[in-house]
Amino acid sequence: MATGRRYRGGLVDLGAGLISREIFVNEEIYAEELERVFTRAWLFVGHESQIAKPGDYFVSCMGEESVILCRDREERVHVFLNSCRHRGMKVCRYDEGNTPVFTCPYHGWSYAADGKLVGVPYFREAYHGKLDRSQLGLVEVAQLATYKGSVWATWDPNAPGFLEYLGEFRRYLDLTLDGWDGRDGGTEVLGGVQKWLIPCNWKFPAENFSGDSYHNISHRSVDMVGIGPSGSGRRDMRERLLARRLQICFPERGHQTGVYVLPKDQPTPPAYQQSPVVSEFFKQCEAERRRRRGEWGRVTGSPGEVFPNTALHPRQPRTFAVWHPRGPHQTEVWRWYLVDSESPPEVKDFLRQYYIRYSGPAGLTEQDDMENWNYAHAASRGTIARRYPYTYEQGMGFEVENYEWDGLRLPGSVMDITEAKSSEHNLRNLYRRWAEFMDAEGWDELATWRTPAS
Ligand code: FES
Ligand SMILES: [Fe+2]
Repeated sequence: MATGRRYRGGLVDLGAGLISREIFVNEEIYAEELERVFTRAWLFVGHESQIAKPGDYFVSCMGEESVILCRDREERVHVFLNSCRHRGMKVCRYDEGNTPVFTCPYHGWSYAADGKLVGVPYFREAYHGKLDRSQLGLVEVAQLATYKGSVWATWDPNAPGFLEYLGEFRRYLDLTLDGWDGRDGGTEVLGGVQKWLIPCNWKFPAENFSGDSYHNISHRSVDMVGIGPSGSGRRDMRERLLARRLQICFPERGHQTGVYVLPKDQPTPPAYQQSPVVSEFFKQCEAERRRRRGEWGRVTGSPGEVFPNTALHPRQPRTFAVWHPRGPHQTEVWRWYLVDSESPPEVKDFLRQYYIRYSGPAGLTEQDDMENWNYAHAASRGTIARRYPYTYEQGMGFEVENYEWDGLRLPGSVMDITEAKSSEHNLRNLYRRWAEFMDAEGWDELATWRTPAS
């Protein structure tokens, strides 16, 4: 569906730093974004450690639609639409488990874990043996990618491959997916996935995690209580005081993140002082990471976002969140918690407790955030409220290409907020890309990096 609206320069006027509230509260625009954003983009669906064995499955979501992430008998990973080809019934109604076949509860069609329709009750009698079962397997995503344990999918066969979709942002995504000691990958999901509903548009949390460095005031109470790993602040990152604080985004891709960059020759200060085992583990990991990654080991991540709705929290705590749209006025949050698979049980348990204190429906920091999004959304829905756009002017024009500091070049469009404290650089990037998706007719227009600028 297309509403005929133009977004770039219209409802999303980044030249003026103004964005209309309509894009958050309007039903028609919401329906259009399901079609134009969520069927074309790469979406995070889960982690390979959730489906370690053949027959394992995890029921996930892409946009509003339920999908099954599973591993077949040959150990291949699949993502299927969770809807029977006969009359649409959800073929899997559990959150996760292991099964040789998915049997539809309505009339009993059954599908193997590779999606093939393998059982049709009364096939010979009722269908007279004539139904072409080979054409009626579960609907599978157009493209699937597994990257360092994470699993991503898109419905669009014309979308670029996942690594091309990431571009140079890949190095920043690695800050969440690589081991604490700098090894490639090696993470696993700790416990279950937390899921809960919040009454606001999905773009509120998406922009917050893109780099709303301005809302620290919201977290004064958790900072004062000291929920951080060492009981001070809400995180335990003394390197923040020594580091350059940067916002980094990729205008052609729509991905963005915050990072901290330590000065050359400055070792990462030890963290996690509460338990000797935990403290020793992280001390060794930091040293090893610096050895393995060299200069790049000076970079640590803070929250970021893979376009459109996957949030990264690379370090403290280490999590993924997906902001699933559930109508313009509601979002279902799913949060995955990651640990290094090879870390000692004490470390996993220590992190589990810290993660739960920080994030999720009961997490103190996340509660602060949700409170803002919920009330901001509700207060933006009224007839009068909708006439007044939000302002995104902070730091406009101060971004730097080819940013370099103390011998390290960082890819992306960079805003140094060490002295400036804050900017809305990364937020504008999210909406720039969102508006492009809404205006474009397909990936020929969206893959702008393939056409050299004239
Ligand atoms: S809806 Fe699944 S068998 Fe009829
Ligand atoms: Fe926050």
